[in-house]
Amino acid sequence: MSRDSFLIFCRNDYLVPKTTLTSGEEWVVSEFVEVAGVNDIPEGTMKKFMVSKYPIILVRVKGRYYAFDEYCPHLGGDLFLGTLKETTLTCPIHHSQFDIRDGHVLRWTDLDGIMLAIDSRIHPPNSLKKYPVRVEGNKILISHER
Ligand code: FES
Repeated sequence: MSRDSFLIFCRNDYLVPKTTLTSGEEWVVSEFVEVAGVNDIPEGTMKKFMVSKYPIILVRVKGRYYAFDEYCPHLGGDLFLGTLKETTLTCPIHHSQFDIRDGHVLRWTDLDGIMLAIDSRIHPPNSLKKYPVRVEGNKILISHER
């Protein structure tokens, strides 16, 4: 069986098996990795961390933490250079906007009319790739799985 058959998804601190395991199968457990202390991320700011060799952005908004891929799901713009206003993150390249709470698309590029229609066929709207975040005491931990 492939490794992917054993992946476990973390939701709200609970581990949920992707498949029902039978005897002899191995588990690959998603691990939370400490990336920062709670005082390292001032309210309303972003910081970038390398987790398992991948750049991940960590954001603190209204006392909650959110983690997601550094690169925009449209054409890979560097979201770390984007603008964060409350829970809305705007990509610096074509100005797509995402809600960082769940990653959903608020606006797909700043194109309009026929250009937006063409672009959306080639690059359909795609949410931010998010990662579970956990706070333990003064530590912020991120679970990273691809
Ligand atoms: S690269 Fe982000 S909106 Fe195009």
